[in-house]
Amino acid sequence: MTDQTKFLLPEDKLPKAWYNLAADLPVALPPPLHPGTGQPIGPDDLAPIFPMAVIAQEVSTERWIDIPEPVRDVYRLWRPSPLIRARRLEKALGTPARIYFKYEGVSPAGSHKPNTSVPQAFYNQQEGVKRLSTETGAGQWGSSLAFAGSLFGLEVEVFMVRISYNQKPYRRALMETYGATCIPSPSPLTAAGRAVLAKDPDSNGSLGIAISEAVEIAASRDDTKYALGSVLNHVCLHQTVIGEEALAQMEMAGATPDVVIACTGGGSNFAGLAFPYIREKLKGMNVRVVAVEPTSCPTLTKGRYAYDFGDTGHLTPLVKMHTLGSTFMPPGTHSGGLRYHGMAPMVSHVAELGLIEATAYPQTECFAAALAFARAEGIVPAPESSHAVKAAIVEAEAAKAEGKARTILFNLSGHGHFDMQSYTDYLAGKLKDPDYDQVALDRALAELPAVG
Ligand SMILES: Cc1ncc(COP(=O)(O)O)c(C=O)c1O
Repeated sequence: MTDQTKFLLPEDKLPKAWYNLAADLPVALPPPLHPGTGQPIGPDDLAPIFPMAVIAQEVSTERWIDIPEPVRDVYRLWRPSPLIRARRLEKALGTPARIYFKYEGVSPAGSHKPNTSVPQAFYNQQEGVKRLSTETGAGQWGSSLAFAGSLFGLEVEVFMVRISYNQKPYRRALMETYGATCIPSPSPLTAAGRAVLAKDPDSNGSLGIAISEAVEIAASRDDTKYALGSVLNHVCLHQTVIGEEALAQMEMAGATPDVVIACTGGGSNFAGLAFPYIREKLKGMNVRVVAVEPTSCPTLTKGRYAYDFGDTGHLTPLVKMHTLGSTFMPPGTHSGGLRYHGMAPMVSHVAELGLIEATAYPQTECFAAALAFARAEGIVPAPESSHAVKAAIVEAEAAKAEGKARTILFNLSGHGHFDMQSYTDYLAGKLKDPDYDQVALDRALAELPAVG
């Protein structure tokens, strides 16, 4: 063991292909269904909203999918991202554990999201699309698509969940700096938004509502396609550059993780780090894989595994996933990117197969962990990423209690530089741990679509 802290891959070790876990799943993923017919959907059903290259990736079972050279060229602006050993945090915790984190906050937008916004913008541009519509929770995805749109000459329209729009004005400024338009959701611009506003004019909004608005715009305009920042297979696929790099970097560090950890909103940064490790686990690697979510929106830990809509307005196909019900409104916490009722079908599937574990923590415990991390390592985590930090610290403390070393790898999916209001609120003792409304959850689950 050396005292090396950063494990950096040269640019020529940037992965040449994304890894598709669908090729190695012991049981095939249940297909998405058409909500009208209950039958599996085909490419034509998705063609109004996605470009063909993306649809092909969505259903592919090829193990490796080449990353186009123009996409790798943009990736080179910040990738390969660093793997860092959190030596100072280990010391502060007095743990025998070795803690490594993959840092995705080095991207221009500050998170893992450009790993997929760049290829999505590229494929749309290749197919002649001029405009993209999308949703964003905390604003990380919206600014990532705005960034990618600016590189590939696409207009970008972002529906931003209203509570985050109010909490994070500089995310909107960042989107506008990249040339995009940012609209608070629910908005009066769409039927889906108007329906929510009619019932609740002060609605905080949710990712489910913002998705409905963005899909409605794409479905109703010939010049516009929709881009999704998480959940779907192609998004998880694009994120696997994280795990492929991490495997090589952990080898440089001479370490194999006992546990791999990431936070889960729609599941994409988790998939990005975890899926290459699940491949290795299926081949015999002894590794636990842990997904971390907020107790206020406990999709994997309390949700039902069922077919459901991806959005609140019921414009999307039905996908089989852990869900709190598409009408469930999570309380307004500071981790906007984790306030989603569903989970990536592929992440849900591997949870059902027992290949991963899931755990949940309240936001104040995550902020406490984020502070400990920032004070030891210097990086201020995004509130979403602080859930992974919390789980990593829990593992490190368990190692200390057992008096045994263990190697922990977690994904620090983004920095929190645009989320400082949440840190201000936390430091002022104003942050609460709002519980979800059990009656509302039961009602949302009771409204799950019947699938024969
Ligand atoms: C920094 C960060 N981490 C995690 C997430 C959660 O999304 P996902 O589960 O798709 O990685 C988000 C979503 O906005 C985010 O901004």
